[in-house]
Amino acid sequence: MGTRPHKEQAPRGAPAGHDTDAHHGLRFPKDFVWGAATSAHQIEGGNTNSDWWDFEHQAGSGCAESSGDACDSYSRWQQDLAVVADLGLTSYRFSLEWSRIEPAEGEWSLAALDHYRRICAGCREVGLEPTVTFHHFTNPRWFAAQGGWEAPQSPAMFARFCEKAAGSLGDLIGRACTVNEPSMVALIGYLLGEFPPGRKDDTEAFVTVTKHLVEAHRQAVGALRAGPGVYPVGLSLAMSEFQVLPGGEELAALAQEMMEDIYLRELGGDDFVGVQSYTRTYIGPQGPVDPPPGTRLTAMGYEYWPQTAEAAIRRAAAVTGRPVIVTENGIATDDDAERVEFVSDALRGVHRCLEDGIDVRGYFYWSLLDNFEWARGFEPHFGLVSVDRSTFARRPKPSARWFGEVARRRELIPAAADELGPGA
Ligand code: BGC
Repeated sequence: MGTRPHKEQAPRGAPAGHDTDAHHGLRFPKDFVWGAATSAHQIEGGNTNSDWWDFEHQAGSGCAESSGDACDSYSRWQQDLAVVADLGLTSYRFSLEWSRIEPAEGEWSLAALDHYRRICAGCREVGLEPTVTFHHFTNPRWFAAQGGWEAPQSPAMFARFCEKAAGSLGDLIGRACTVNEPSMVALIGYLLGEFPPGRKDDTEAFVTVTKHLVEAHRQAVGALRAGPGVYPVGLSLAMSEFQVLPGGEELAALAQEMMEDIYLRELGGDDFVGVQSYTRTYIGPQGPVDPPPGTRLTAMGYEYWPQTAEAAIRRAAAVTGRPVIVTENGIATDDDAERVEFVSDALRGVHRCLEDGIDVRGYFYWSLLDNFEWARGFEPHFGLVSVDRSTFARRPKPSARWFGEVARRRELIPAAADELGPGA
């Protein structure tokens, strides 16, 4: 476990970064999945029936702006699929909006189910495997009003939704993620107060919600497997490399337990483990602290640390013994060359895992589109594709074309230097 410095890993002692030799020979398996990921609330627009919509419009919630029309993907999903397919990727990861499918408790929208069925079918028509996430941060308003994930019935409510949705889509699903980053739902919603329900330092609720999310995953796996279709089912877990500072040992162990291990221990029967890692976390005696001064940061203020994907894969594989898929990895930046650098660095780590015999089955870039980055609004740009905020026109960035070429060749190749640049 842990990471190894780039320079030791680059072939023939070449430095990492943009150096051509550093890419040489990094080939990926034939069936390796190359994808781009999105989530419903971040791209669809008009998701007015969820706890997130309320939170965005709540004075003092700290949200930069409303998700509004987002990227208008509820209407423009065919354009999104066309971009992913044209780039040369093999899978599209998107999520179902529970608040559209079950707008009131026990009331099912056939039109919404049909919409997602058309997206699954649309993926298949353009040669993409639909990777479907059943919960990506948002809850229906009625569910939140019942106590959200604190309510004892919450796992069963979610499992019932999964049963209904999978009953309608299962024959077309290529791969399913039950819950996206459950630890972030608990942490950011109940300890940091930056996601709904906006509670700060509510440790008791954090623990309850964590247990319910673990149980929700367990029940969801059962519901999906009992429905039509046969497809791999797993969880998408946020993981971080913990950098423990002197005196921070106890808190780091607690963080690792409550944010990762409590989930990982439950995943031994799943078909895969989805790992999502963006940076590493420094933990001191009082909890998480900023990286040291002078550290290179991304537009999110995270440390630039693409090696974290490798560390996450290694831990997830070691703890669960299951195949691993990087279901999200990416960077917020307005410098498209930096995006290529980040993904190249991350893919080198993925490749080292493969060389060591770890069963890594795919890599999804987060995100396909510049989209609604939750409380931060539309400012951070994670996308491979920019979206004009007044016309919704999609424009693939050079990094998108590069990533597509990597996927087509199944080989890490350098980006053409003349295509890249700040603001690209
Ligand atoms: C989430 C995404 C989010 C991304 C970047 C992940 O935690 O699944 O919804 O946009 O990170 O912050």
